[in-house]
Amino acid sequence: MSQYDVIIIGAGPGGYVSAIRCAQLGLKTAVVEARETLGGTCLNVGCIPSKALLHATHSLHEAQHNFADMGLKGKAPSVDWKQMKEYKSNVVGQNTGGIEFLFKKNKIDWLKGYGTIEAAGKVKVGDTTYETKNIVIASGSVPSALPGVEVENDKGIVVDSTGALDLPKVPKKMVVIGAGVIGLELGSVYARLGSEVTVVEYMDAVCPGMDADVQRSFKRILEKQGLSFIMGAAVQGVEATKTKAKVKYQPKAGGDEEVLDADVVLVATGRKPFVEGLGLDTVGVKMTERGQIATDAHWATNVPGIYAIGDVIEGPMLAHKAEDEGMAVAEVIAGKHGHVNYGVIPGVVYTTPEVATVGATEADLKKDGRKVKTGKFMFMGNARAKAVHQAEGGFVKIITDAETDRVLGAAIIGPAAGDMIHEICVAMEFGASAQDIALTCHAHPTYSEAVREAALACGDGPIHS
Ligand code: NAI
Repeated sequence: MSQYDVIIIGAGPGGYVSAIRCAQLGLKTAVVEARETLGGTCLNVGCIPSKALLHATHSLHEAQHNFADMGLKGKAPSVDWKQMKEYKSNVVGQNTGGIEFLFKKNKIDWLKGYGTIEAAGKVKVGDTTYETKNIVIASGSVPSALPGVEVENDKGIVVDSTGALDLPKVPKKMVVIGAGVIGLELGSVYARLGSEVTVVEYMDAVCPGMDADVQRSFKRILEKQGLSFIMGAAVQGVEATKTKAKVKYQPKAGGDEEVLDADVVLVATGRKPFVEGLGLDTVGVKMTERGQIATDAHWATNVPGIYAIGDVIEGPMLAHKAEDEGMAVAEVIAGKHGHVNYGVIPGVVYTTPEVATVGATEADLKKDGRKVKTGKFMFMGNARAKAVHQAEGGFVKIITDAETDRVLGAAIIGPAAGDMIHEICVAMEFGASAQDIALTCHAHPTYSEAVREAALACGDGPIHS
């Protein structure tokens, strides 16, 4: 008889959420995790610690730039970097401890170590082989390598996001390779701490794939905050000494290779599925051309009894997408109906202001020949945003079907955008029209009124612009 109904490999947001749902559905569940704490990359060295640093440095920015205006006089606080990192670690610790508590509460076994699948139904951890009816691979992702660039986090000169969260000191000059989510969030942290931050990006816009209006405003706002950008430039290599680095890049438009000096280089050029050591070759699990585990609509691989979710399969590498898949695959294994609506997965960049998007972009819909209507409302017309110094440059944009008024997507750049986007997500889940949002009473004064105004802008027009 199998020891377990389900063994999940990886305790990140995909794996641990799946384990809890499996246990709730009455399945005997274990999770294999080698890290000393639960929560995976997101909780230990990703989403959560970066949010702690973003909050701390946002507070510093407020004190330096906005306190005096509000009548809060006195010297702005100085930075105790060691203490700030301790605060960050405490935030992480509270959350990893919370998951351990949930594992105990739900009677989930934590098998400590790396898991290797020996065959369908057999997972080896250390010297022990465990038997299980089902296996869920939730092993996440690792930073992808950039040719000519060697990341050495322990040396603190050329680092990835993990190293950037734990630098020994705040660098004078930082070069960030890649204007994606990681580059802009962590670039913001160091710019606020006083580093001279230059972001080198291959594409011509920040956050490739995002709404073009947002890309433009976002870059402008970040420039005002002190970040510099070199766009359309491909980094060719980094030469590092013990204390400094030189970043070589080639402008896409042609011309000579250029060199930038830096005290720290953050490589933020994307991530790739982490599948090493899982034994996928041995058991014959099929992969996609892009190195992801191939799954069907129910997260099943080609090998019966083996499933995969999160960053190791296709789709956006986002914690909440992995969580949704984790819950859904648990339902499938328990004989129920698991479902994820991939059309309504929000994406958020936690800078100040925040940027949040959901659904299709205007450009993509037009490319597909769809007739769309857009409603845009600037936060300059929102009283609450003005009160927190975050009105400038921000807006809500809602994209609807020109004939039916059904909401197809939205982009927000402004205060609390990452929370406000969920109003649009719920609207999209229910197939709502912009008019449905416009007819819904929104409390005053809130940032969310800007969402309603953008919805009004899809019809007869907003009130405050
Ligand atoms: P990304 O894919 O978002 O951005 C990488 C950027 O690097 C791209 O803009 C690309 O054009 C650029 N690039 C690649 N090679 C280059 C070169 N040689 N020279 C110059 N530019 C180059 O990847 P990122 O920021 O590393 O994030 C990895 C993953 O983690 C993403 O899937 C992201 O969604 C996820 N993530 C999500 C967060 C959130 O939801 N807030 C936070 C952090 C990460």
